[in-house]
Amino acid sequence: MRRKLAAGNWKMNGTSAALTEAENLAKSYTSPDIDLLICPPATLLSRLSDALSDSPIATGGQDCHAATSGAHTGDVSAEMLKDSGATYVILGHSERRDTYDEESEDVRAKARTAMENGLTAVVCLGESLAQREANNTLDIIGGQLAGSVPDGATGETLVIAYEPVWAIGTGLVPTLEQIAEVHGFIRERLIRRFGEETGNAIRILYGGSVKASNATEIFSVADVDGALVGGASLKASDFSGIIDALEKA
Ligand code: PGA
Repeated sequence: MRRKLAAGNWKMNGTSAALTEAENLAKSYTSPDIDLLICPPATLLSRLSDALSDSPIATGGQDCHAATSGAHTGDVSAEMLKDSGATYVILGHSERRDTYDEESEDVRAKARTAMENGLTAVVCLGESLAQREANNTLDIIGGQLAGSVPDGATGETLVIAYEPVWAIGTGLVPTLEQIAEVHGFIRERLIRRFGEETGNAIRILYGGSVKASNATEIFSVADVDGALVGGASLKASDFSGIIDALEKA
């Protein structure tokens, strides 16, 4: 059985005051039935990891460099994330693919380094609205999946997040049928590449405008093993509605 995962992506939001939100969440979930993760900005990672050290809530980075160290001004390495208490790292988020022209081969190199450094890579995939309207969704997702995921991935070292670009931060959500189609397709491709056991052990999250009000129906879809949540993860009161829905799913 795959353990469900509720992951918060704070993006470029949060200063010291935001630590209180995570501490409030930690008070509510001392022994959850699911895995919980918060990915704060890099500036908060170390303090957040310390604040949550007695809590089951894990912390993660939002990106890392493919190299272990070196002359890469402004970048953060997987080893640094690990050293700051992280156990996960989000890679290939559409905001990075778009803004920094990250290609799937770049994401794959980063994921390999992350895994070598003991981090679980949360690899994001997603089609644009134009790609969906042109009926290219599965081609795009299949290509991103094959290109972004390194060989040797396992249920411990890899999580996939399906995040339609047009659903991120927009309030738009695909139909349950559309989510089911893509998650089923990703599952089938994972099994084909990694075999039955590993392919079935890798968790597939849905992301894009998940809120407490739509979480229950999204979590009812087969092969949705949790959510990657942006805006609704910033406040403990919002995120806990999603966590509660996932615990009940
Ligand atoms: P959102 O973001 O929940 O604000 O739509 C999701 C994400 O980008 O991970």
